Amino acid sequence: MHVKGKNYRAIRADKKNKSVRIINQLKIPFEFEIIEINSYSELVNAIKDMRLRGAPLIGVAGAYAVWLACVEAIDNKNPQKFLKDAFKNIITARPTAVNLKFATCYIYNKVLIEKNFSNWENVAYKFANEYYENEIDSFRKIGEYGLEIIKQIAKQKKGKVVNILTHCNAGWLACGDYGTATSPIYLAHQNGIKVHVWVDETRPRFQGAKLTAWEMYNEKVPFTVITDNTGGHIMQQGLVDIVIVGADRVAANGDVANKIGTYLKALAAFDNKLPFYVALPVSTIDFNLKQGVGEIVIEKRSTDEVVIIDGISNKEKIQQINLMPKNYNSENYAFDVTPNRLITGIITEKGVVKANFKEIIKLKSNMYGR
Ligand code: MRU
Repeated sequence: MHVKGKNYRAIRADKKNKSVRIINQLKIPFEFEIIEINSYSELVNAIKDMRLRGAPLIGVAGAYAVWLACVEAIDNKNPQKFLKDAFKNIITARPTAVNLKFATCYIYNKVLIEKNFSNWENVAYKFANEYYENEIDSFRKIGEYGLEIIKQIAKQKKGKVVNILTHCNAGWLACGDYGTATSPIYLAHQNGIKVHVWVDETRPRFQGAKLTAWEMYNEKVPFTVITDNTGGHIMQQGLVDIVIVGADRVAANGDVANKIGTYLKALAAFDNKLPFYVALPVSTIDFNLKQGVGEIVIEKRSTDEVVIIDGISNKEKIQQINLMPKNYNSENYAFDVTPNRLITGIITEKGVVKANFKEIIKLKSNMYGR
C-alpha cells in the first residue's frame, strides 16, 4: 500500500543481508521509520514492544524469526538446542494472536525435517516467504469477498456514501499488505464506490487514531476519527451502515477475540440491527478451540499503556505525558471476545461464512499441514 505515493509492505526479508526490515509502528503517524533487524531475538523484542503488531503480521514475523534463528544457529556449538530455544522464545512473544503459533510451528517443523544444518537457513527462508505471499493473497481475496457486501449496501443506498465503522488497526500495517478489515474498503474505494470510514481511536494504544487513520489518509479514503465511546450514538443516528473489524483469534464456534472494545461495538450494532462482519485469514482460526468466550486467555499488558500517552509537541517532537497520577490503580486488558451470536458473518479468503461451528470447520484445509 502507499506512503506518500510509494508502495510499501509492513515487513520485508532481505536474503542477501540476512535481515528483516519492518516499519516502526510506534512512530506512526509522526515519523516513518524503517528498522533493520538482524537477529531473531531482536525481532521477538519488536513483537513484544509492538514496533510490529497486528495478528497476521505477528505470524509472518514469527516465520521470519525462525529464518533468522536458523542463520544464527549455524555458528552455534549446539544448533539444535539454539533453534529449539529460539522457537520457544518466538512462540511466546505474544499470547493471543494464534497466527504467531501457527506460522512459527509451520516453519520450525519444515526445518526439523532437514537433517543438514547448513540447509536450514534456505528451507526456512523459502517457506517463510511462501507463507507471507499466501497470506498477502488471502488479504486480497478477503477484499474481493468483502467488496460484494459493500456493493450491496451501496446499491440499497442508491449510490449514497456507505459509512463503515472499524476498530483498532486491521489494516495493511497489521498484515503486510491490503489488511483484513480494510481490504474491502480499499477495493470499494478503488472501484469508485463512495465510502467513508468511522475510525475508533482505540484506547489505550490508539491503533485506530494513529495507524488506521494514517492508512486511510495515505490511500485518500475519506475518514473521521471518533472516540471509542461514540459508536453506539452514531449507530442510533443512522450514520453507520456496516461494522467491519479484524480478529486476533477465532474459535471453532465463531467467537472472535479482537482488540478490547470490539465486543461493545458488536452489542451496539446488534441493538441497532446493523451488519457486523469480522474479516480474517484462515490462519487466525484456532480450530482446536471449541469456543472463545471464557476460553481465550486475554493478554494483560503493562498499565503504563493506560497511564502514559504519547503524541507530538508544538516543537514537532514525539513526547510522552502522564494522563493521571502514576499511583492510581489501572488495568490493561488488550482484547475481548465477541460471542458468535452477535456476528453477521466472517469474511475469509475462502468466502464469507456464518460464525458457527458447521461453517467454520469447512474452512479447515490441508494448507500448511493443518
Ligand atoms: O495489540 P495489537 O495492536 O497487535 O492488536 C491486534 C490488532 O491489531 C487488532 O485486534 C486487529 O483488529 C486484528 S489484527 C488484523
